[in-house]
Amino acid sequence: MSDATIQDLLEEGRTFPPAPDFQATALVSDRSLYDEAEADRLGFWARQARELVTWYEDFETVLEWNLPFAQWFVGGKLNVSYNCLDRHVEAGRADKVAFHWEGEPGDTRTITYAELLDEVSRFANVLRSLGVQRGDRVAIYMPMIPELPVAMLACARIGAPHSVVFGGFSPDSLIDRINDAEAKVLVAADGGYRKGAPVALKPNCDEALRSTPSIEHVVVVRRTGQPVEWTEGRDRWWHEVMAGASSECQPESMDSEDLLYLLYTSGTTAKPKGIMHSTGGYLTQIAFSHRYVFDLHPETDVYWCAADIGWVTGHSYIVYGPLTNGCTSVMYEGTPDTPRESERAGDGAAWPKDRIWDIIERYGVTQLYTAPTAIRMFMKWGDQEPARHDLSSLRMLGTVGEPINPEAWMWYHLNIGRERCPIVDTWWQTETGAQMISPLPGVTTTKPGSATLALPGVVAEVVDDNGKPITQGGGYLTLTEPWPAMLRGIWGDPQRYRDTYWSRFEGRYFAGDGAKVDADGYLWLLGRVDDVMNVSGHRISTTEVESALVDHELVVEAAVVGSTDAMTGQAIMSYVILRGDVEPSEDLGEEIRQHVATKLGAIARPRTVILVPDLPKTRSGKIMRRLLRDVAEGHALGDTTTLADPAVVEEIRARAAAAPEED
Ligand code: WTA
Repeated sequence: MSDATIQDLLEEGRTFPPAPDFQATALVSDRSLYDEAEADRLGFWARQARELVTWYEDFETVLEWNLPFAQWFVGGKLNVSYNCLDRHVEAGRADKVAFHWEGEPGDTRTITYAELLDEVSRFANVLRSLGVQRGDRVAIYMPMIPELPVAMLACARIGAPHSVVFGGFSPDSLIDRINDAEAKVLVAADGGYRKGAPVALKPNCDEALRSTPSIEHVVVVRRTGQPVEWTEGRDRWWHEVMAGASSECQPESMDSEDLLYLLYTSGTTAKPKGIMHSTGGYLTQIAFSHRYVFDLHPETDVYWCAADIGWVTGHSYIVYGPLTNGCTSVMYEGTPDTPRESERAGDGAAWPKDRIWDIIERYGVTQLYTAPTAIRMFMKWGDQEPARHDLSSLRMLGTVGEPINPEAWMWYHLNIGRERCPIVDTWWQTETGAQMISPLPGVTTTKPGSATLALPGVVAEVVDDNGKPITQGGGYLTLTEPWPAMLRGIWGDPQRYRDTYWSRFEGRYFAGDGAKVDADGYLWLLGRVDDVMNVSGHRISTTEVESALVDHELVVEAAVVGSTDAMTGQAIMSYVILRGDVEPSEDLGEEIRQHVATKLGAIARPRTVILVPDLPKTRSGKIMRRLLRDVAEGHALGDTTTLADPAVVEEIRARAAAAPEED
């Protein structure tokens, strides 16, 4: 074994160059954007800013960089909601559809740019009438309904930063976020639909609001019609306040560096961090990446990002990117295993699990952007679900959120892309604001499991323990130059910003991810560095072992954690879900262990394979590794296979039920 920082064990040999017929219509099919950005990075970003964004006043300086504090497009004035709405209407695209929205029960709304502008302007006036002024923070806690982007854009229109709190979070999470930001108004709903039933949100608001002194008013959308408690004077119905509001609202002229929003993300400590995103730089890089990574043809495309707006993916690639680029999107309220009411027969277990494919077929979706965890779930549900649908409208596919194992990539390629659609595996973070490492679909030859290369204008380097760049092998992913959509800090805590991101390697932003560089310079993300195991002095990525496990034909999903071992430092513990029709057996467990040894080498063979029916996940779909680690540590698990050990399964279940919502 070499002494590379992180062992790179997995060899993936397949390559997929862009197809000539895709290239024929692609926005870019050569290296020109890379060349331009390499020659003059700031000039490149200045050109994107001027081409993709409309400014009230042009900027004077492209970048002011006082490490680690960046200011982009200094002196420029603009308004994000103007860029997302007014300018499209003024250009004659009033009747273009902004969102094809579909509720989980099957109700729909088609919202044009003119209608969205009208609603946003009225809600902006409502916020003002409730005392919200430029600079005040507004908290938003809603299901995936059209009023959510309306509320965000209304905030942007009047220069009031929003803080969207994912609708699946608890009252406690809501309290922490509202109080940290000292939000003045909360925009919420009575509830939303999930898995075929209404889920109430207003009671969570009522509970949270006992401990949030800064909130003066709550505006409540009536979505489910569930009974609600009402606090007179504080609570207002959305439909009532909107009825009287004027649809004339002049957008504020904002400074390029003004705060557009806060989005809280969990770190290694319990206190969530309020990630700050600015106006001009953020919008520029979002518009750029959304346009070129998705090869956007706004005249004809029907784009769908199937994330929740409560996460950064939804902020950047459901709301701000698509609307700035004037495209038509799909927005869906519910879960992928819930059919429309008209298609539901029997109990939930008997329902078809094809809602995603059904939506793609009915709306003629051209780009689908989803997460590896969702793709693995679709794999588990079986090939027959997408096979029932005509998916020929799809032109390309994207993934985000975690490393995609090659098997899931290939399944996506074969069963959804039907071997026609390029796949963009996009690496980025709440903190980066925009996609950073990704193929350009008309340019980049892809390799299943690799996010490929930094996008034009982005400079990424993998370094070793001492911060020395590595040209091949495993290490830590860093970003060496500021980028327009980068976080501007952590709300109220500049020191934590320095410590968290800029202190591990001098002069570099450290993303917290391990990565390896292959012989072609391609980047392979290896998961969070705290998910890297150290076995007998060899650092082994949990992701690589997971990929090898799910490469076994009878395994659908796997989670790997390191547990303390007196001999080897850490031992590899794996939790494995088998395909539904497979009988677990001792021999099969052993075969799976051997499979990993064959794929990666004996050093990576898991000490234990635990066959489980399910894996505990956070609301955003990330596996709760800390929980699994604790369970592994707490049991004297044998040396080989533990066959669905009921005590282990029960403990996972109990701990997951009691776990805080963010792990
Ligand atoms: C992980 C989501 C591998 C990574 C946009 C990162 C990925 C964290 C990828 C950020 C990818 C995201 N390949 N890993 N394509 N995309 N990640 O803040 O560990 O929710 O640091 O932002 O997700 O998660 P966040």
